Amino acid sequence: MFGEMKVFSGSSHPDLAGGIATHMGMPLGRLKVTRFSNENIKVKIEENVREADVFVIQSSCPPVSDNLLELLILIDALKFASAARITAVLPYFPYARSDKKDEARISITARLVADLLETAGADRVLTMTLHAPQILGFFRKPADQLLATPILTNYFRSKDLSNATVVATDAGAAKFAGHFAKRLSVPMAIIDKRRFDDSEKAQSVALIGDVKDRDAIIYDDEIATGGSIKEAARIIREFGARSVRVGVTHPVLSGNALETLRAAELDELVVTDSIPVSAAFTKAMPNLKVLSTAALFGDAILRIHGGRSISEMMD
Ligand code: R5P
Repeated sequence: MFGEMKVFSGSSHPDLAGGIATHMGMPLGRLKVTRFSNENIKVKIEENVREADVFVIQSSCPPVSDNLLELLILIDALKFASAARITAVLPYFPYARSDKKDEARISITARLVADLLETAGADRVLTMTLHAPQILGFFRKPADQLLATPILTNYFRSKDLSNATVVATDAGAAKFAGHFAKRLSVPMAIIDKRRFDDSEKAQSVALIGDVKDRDAIIYDDEIATGGSIKEAARIIREFGARSVRVGVTHPVLSGNALETLRAAELDELVVTDSIPVSAAFTKAMPNLKVLSTAALFGDAILRIHGGRSISEMMD
């Protein structure tokens, strides 16, 4: 067994880190991050962590590179302050979409991030809904993946699902969308989505399955520019759906996401708080619902500390 459990937060998502600590009934560890005029970052751990079982929460959100570097520096500081075990808790994993060599001479940055975390001194990783589950294989240390599916499905269960169909935005999302549909006991359809270049523009070209006169619930792992969701909503309506709701884990909401998602005229957009959603965005999207993952992460941290199963949380 490891020593005392301690939870620290980087600067990226203090609200979620605070929620996790509150759920666990303990305060966040004290630390100070200083950013100098030359953009260098200094971290000082302001309490004793010798032989402690330490968890560091840092999600990937803008400024992505700064937040990643801050996490690496934090882990390094904890390691040299003699923490016994360090778990990096990454609600949204950095560079998750850079996970395969599907073009010549391209970087696989999610694997590089895994290497960097290990080099900095992380002994374990805890993350949620990876873009592709094989990213877990990039780590040479234990890595656990939580799924937001139970949080999203519990929410949708409170709605009338008698006429619902879950729709995956592409073949990549189909596996998790299948779990989602199964949990809701509703049928599923899949969109044939194509990307032709690096412009972040996606095109939905076909739909496999039946959405005519049905209440569609689009499932995806993340929304970045909102283009995939807008395209999905367009084709689902073209095929005769009577309503379009969306359940997505990570609200990346980059580029012109606000304009794009407003133009998509969704009946409801449901996301988790794995990434902070700005107040301006929430105000401009009255049909947006943000679900908390604090209890999920808090329980997972308690289980890791106690040596208990994580997978049974997903059952
Ligand atoms: C990509 O394959 C992911 O699963 C999402 O569909 C994608 O990140 C969404 O990007 P965007 O919102 O820019 O279309």
